[in-house]
Amino acid sequence: MNGADRQIQREVERRRTFAIISHPDAGKTMLTEKLLLFGGALREAGAVRAQKANRHATSDWLELEKQRGISVSSSVMSCDYDGHRINILDTPGHKDFSEDTYRTLMAADCVVMLIDGAKGVETQTRKLFEVCRMRRLPIFTFVNKWDRYGRDPLDLMSEIEEVLGIDAVPVNWPIGSGTDFTGVYDRLDRRAVFFKGGKHGTEKPEQWELRGSLEDPELRSALGPHLEEIEESLELLDGAGATFDLERVRAGEQTPMFFGSALTNFGVFPFLESFLQFAPPPSARQSKEVQVDPVKGPFSAFVFKIQANMDPDHRDRVAFLRICSGKFERDMKTTHVPSGKQVRLARSTLLMAQEREEVDEAFAGDVVGLFDPGFFRIGDTLSDDRSIRYDGIPSFSPEVFARVEVTEVLNRKALTKGFEQLSQEGAVQLFTEPVGGSALQILGAVGELQFDVLRHRMATEYRVDVRLTRLPYTLARWVEGALEADAFEYSDATRLVIDRDGRLVLLFQAPWVVDLVRKNHPDLRLSETAVSVS
Ligand code: G4P
Repeated sequence: MNGADRQIQREVERRRTFAIISHPDAGKTMLTEKLLLFGGALREAGAVRAQKANRHATSDWLELEKQRGISVSSSVMSCDYDGHRINILDTPGHKDFSEDTYRTLMAADCVVMLIDGAKGVETQTRKLFEVCRMRRLPIFTFVNKWDRYGRDPLDLMSEIEEVLGIDAVPVNWPIGSGTDFTGVYDRLDRRAVFFKGGKHGTEKPEQWELRGSLEDPELRSALGPHLEEIEESLELLDGAGATFDLERVRAGEQTPMFFGSALTNFGVFPFLESFLQFAPPPSARQSKEVQVDPVKGPFSAFVFKIQANMDPDHRDRVAFLRICSGKFERDMKTTHVPSGKQVRLARSTLLMAQEREEVDEAFAGDVVGLFDPGFFRIGDTLSDDRSIRYDGIPSFSPEVFARVEVTEVLNRKALTKGFEQLSQEGAVQLFTEPVGGSALQILGAVGELQFDVLRHRMATEYRVDVRLTRLPYTLARWVEGALEADAFEYSDATRLVIDRDGRLVLLFQAPWVVDLVRKNHPDLRLSETAVSVS
């Protein structure tokens, strides 16, 4: 291995690129902020939260547009901690929840699943978890808000196992809860970590530890009133065979659980240390024909997200590249694999917590934003080695649908162009009815807000006034296999359309209708996602 390869290897090994998945209000913003704060990327607490407050202050698109600069720069947040480079990919939630949230998971090497200790597994977490499972991503569970009285930890563990179908193995166990939450007992290292101070903290809590098993008299006395509960719980866990297995964690079959409070910082450091130890660095990635090694492979990357520029005077967009192998250098030339064209990676920004910086070099695991005049499509591979072609980013089932009505017939050309651009960015999916070349267009989006965005952008950028009539469908399934005519006996509840790559898609009003169709048409394969043709 030469010196350049050794540098790449060092850089790749220290990278941890992950996304935090959670239901709104579980504390994702707060945990992100704490990780960045302690990693030295933020000077004060409140910065990430202020952005979020801005983003949610209104659903008015104009206001949102003003905020878009912020959401671009917070698409990935990086900091260095204890020799590691941490890249946190933002998974927009709340009203911003969209297909981008899913796509971001295609660029992550693992995931932190944040759960509110009082609420357990909630709907948005479940949806995001399904995408993680599809990619077999390692998932680390952080049970948050333990400074409040939450549910029984064993109960939470069973809920994760039952609802998500993954083995949950507590790596640490909380010592007390609510105002009495004083520490965690680490089952792997056999040590109790106690905390003090750190109220609503921007400072590290005082933390000290006692090593030893629960037989140890000093430890027993330090655990005081919590001893009995911990002894019983740990015995139960050991008896049930809940044993940490790194291989299974890395295969996405087992999730290690940690307890803490992002608010008081209690438990954040024990979690972070274990996470950095067990989370995988960027590894070899499967491309169509070959496995690409992050160190030995040539430079390669793929586009996982495209965001329109927030400045209406500059129509360019930002394409987000996830680097998979080799070394990225500013202004380097590479090949856009789908078109075979040479591109120069100029005006590339590494998107840091608060400011944008021009990047000089980047490695596997890093995300780089490129100014894009409208050339890239989501899923495109970039590499001089044209045998590398990463799997396209799948299209995910929209959850809201609307029929498009255009008020002025003359604007059809602008309409088509606008829809083409916006669906290329992946904000909405465009469907048409397959029969008789009907011009009826149906839009689908993962989040309601995307429709507001679309209406506004069509009006300002393409001068087309689009009226949308909501349709009652709530999910789409891509059809594989022969479709019999009587698949439409539930016609009120289903509708057949085609997507922009010409694939057949069935829209359904409710999940039970999907089950019924599946039962009556066992040969029909209905897929929740479709890989884009690029
Ligand atoms: P999100 O990004 O997942 O939506 O959640 P966010 O961090 O914004 O947190 C949602 C609410 O939960 C906030 O309260 C936040 O202070 C609180 N929170 C987050 N982590 C913890 C924790 O570990 N313990 C406790 N007790 N609360 C936590 P809020 O009332 O919406 O806002 P604010 O009071 O912080 O302004």
